[in-house]
Amino acid sequence: MRALVIGNWKMNPKSFKEARKLLEATKKVAGSARGISVVVAPPSIYMRELTGGRRAGKIAFAAQHAHFDAEGAHTGDISMTQAKDAGASYVLIGHAERRTLGESNEDTRKKVAVALSLGLIPVLCVGESKRGNGGEHFDVVRSQLRAGFGDVPASKASKVLVVYEPLWTIGKDTAMHPRDMHEMEIFIRKTLLELYIVPQENAPNVKVLYGGSVDATNAGAMLDEGQVKGFLVGRASIDAESFGALLKTIASL
Ligand code: PGA
Repeated sequence: MRALVIGNWKMNPKSFKEARKLLEATKKVAGSARGISVVVAPPSIYMRELTGGRRAGKIAFAAQHAHFDAEGAHTGDISMTQAKDAGASYVLIGHAERRTLGESNEDTRKKVAVALSLGLIPVLCVGESKRGNGGEHFDVVRSQLRAGFGDVPASKASKVLVVYEPLWTIGKDTAMHPRDMHEMEIFIRKTLLELYIVPQENAPNVKVLYGGSVDATNAGAMLDEGQVKGFLVGRASIDAESFGALLKTIASL
């Protein structure tokens, strides 16, 4: 597999009819993109009907967000068990937009562990909200990784996907510079090495992805120079033409 691409539809599209159309078009473009694993994260209210409750197929599904409790009094939330039952195989955890709404490092710690225990693939999103010149973003990402991987044994660490997606790169005209992504990719690996390297154990082979204003124009450089293994894509995933162009670019590399 050349890359993993997760389309985060966020709160789009407006109706289920449009969602079904978008999925059909996405399936078409994904079908011709060789070597790319495509995951779609639709609004949870559309999930079951889109997947038909099945977890197999060319496209896999992710929940955009889920609670760590299996059931209970959490108005408006869904559980990971429910997401899995509706056909999800992945779950986004700690997306920058959810962190702004109060999702804490402690929440992500519990969620990653629960996802793994249910056989869901946790997609742990990390990244600072602002970037200054003092290197504070490294401290932010280190704390997020330490928390997110806090309850993950070394034997399971490589099952977790890490997306570096700082808030300041989301919804913008351009992505961050691939050189800065590469620096962060190295930092993420180094931090995980510090967390896990003990005698007899190897450093976990965790896939690092990038998110934030990804499209067909910047994906190539990100994979190449940024050294990422894939992407979390917002806007370019809710238009099948842009998504198709993105997949085509990646497949051609
Ligand atoms: P964007 O969103 O691609 O529209 O910047 C990315 C995301 O938030 O996952």
